[in-house]
Amino acid sequence: MKPMIRNNICMNAHGPGCEALTEGWIARALEGKPAIQSAVGTSAKKYRSVLVLGGSTGYGLASRIVAAFCLGADTVSVSFEREPSDKRAGTPGWYNNRAFDRAAVGAGLRSWGLDADAFADSTREAVIALAREKGLIFDLVVYSLASPVRTDPKTGQMYRSVIKPLDRPYEGINLDVFSGKISRATVQPASAEEAEHTVKVMGGEDWELWIRALRNTGVLAPDAETLAYTYIGPEHSWPIYRSGALGKAKAHLEATARTLDSLLKPGGGAAWAAVMKAVVTRASAVIPVIPLYVSTLFKVMKEKGVHEDCLDQGLRLFRDRLLRKDVPTDPERRIRLDDLEMSPEIQSETTRRMMTVTEENAEAVTDAEGFRTDFLQAHGFAVPGVDYGED
Ligand SMILES: NC(=O)c1ccc[n+]([C@@H]2O[C@H](COP(=O)([O-])OP(=O)(O)OC[C@H]3O[C@@H](n4cnc5c(N)ncnc54)[C@H](O)[C@@H]3O)[C@@H](O)[C@H]2O)c1
Repeated sequence: MKPMIRNNICMNAHGPGCEALTEGWIARALEGKPAIQSAVGTSAKKYRSVLVLGGSTGYGLASRIVAAFCLGADTVSVSFEREPSDKRAGTPGWYNNRAFDRAAVGAGLRSWGLDADAFADSTREAVIALAREKGLIFDLVVYSLASPVRTDPKTGQMYRSVIKPLDRPYEGINLDVFSGKISRATVQPASAEEAEHTVKVMGGEDWELWIRALRNTGVLAPDAETLAYTYIGPEHSWPIYRSGALGKAKAHLEATARTLDSLLKPGGGAAWAAVMKAVVTRASAVIPVIPLYVSTLFKVMKEKGVHEDCLDQGLRLFRDRLLRKDVPTDPERRIRLDDLEMSPEIQSETTRRMMTVTEENAEAVTDAEGFRTDFLQAHGFAVPGVDYGED
């Protein structure tokens, strides 16, 4: 079985490959467990019941694995997956969930996965019913949804998110990591309506609905903590990202963190936006300039020995941030795990190299190979030890 890639989107997934990758993350989490446990020893905090919204891939899966396998927490995950049929493979998250559940059972952990639209009120009701039935009081809620669409549960209107600049067109250099071609990409600005819709999908509205619903029904601990993931990135990407439509949504998400923090603080809880490092996920290859930036960044971070993937970030998030008595944040109260990526040394070298990339030297100057591998692995391909010739 081979990957079917069209327009930098992988149309299929390899089940055993996805499962092997998830098992690999779990094995690495177990290696990181002693350090997490010693952080628990010095912390008053215990995370016993953890809800992860979007826990089947990427940062959500990494967070769920660390919560379960390093901390022994009961975990509930909500993700939107397609199961395999006679004609089509399932989505990567479907296989990841299966591998997670199998390993959790093997480790004697309690875990539940809901295959449902996290934006729907019926899904909130299902999670609340499950929590009541199993006696779960969530003390940590991780919000890790990345979605192109959301249906507003109140109005039934469907919104679509866009990755576009605001106000003026964006011109950036694109590296196609599969063909090796370099091109200039121009992205027209989002309309005011598109920007608003992007905020409806990727802003904090749904996160707040979740926290209030869990709290109002008594399945959220009074001192519960919650976090949602965000990204800032280097200044040269801001026109398309941070100052663009998606950045507007992330600003809304970060403002929601402050609202939720005020809500939870009186009970001893807290809410944060956590700024994570750039990694390769299923959508990474279609965003202009991101493949060039990320593959150059990976090259530099690997050379300096500071490269991290989602699981490394998940381990560091719990060990060096959440489990600290005073969770370190920036002046805007955001947890920063993009500190290594954003260090002046890494950024200046990445920018310097990006200026020198040509079609001839791209494989040497950037880590296009690492980008391709991560992208393929996110779909279960290129995983060492998996037999892709097997029927
Ligand atoms: N990828 C990066 O480089 C990066 C960097 C910093 C922050 N982030 C942020 O981290 C968060 C997670 O992103 P990721 O890269 O891990 O993405 P991902 O695509 O790997 O994961 C998204 C998750 O959301 C779930 N999901 C999507 N729509 C859903 C729906 N309607 N109902 C239920 N589940 C749904 C998917 O099933 C999956 O579990 C996002 O907020 C993203 O902006 C990503």
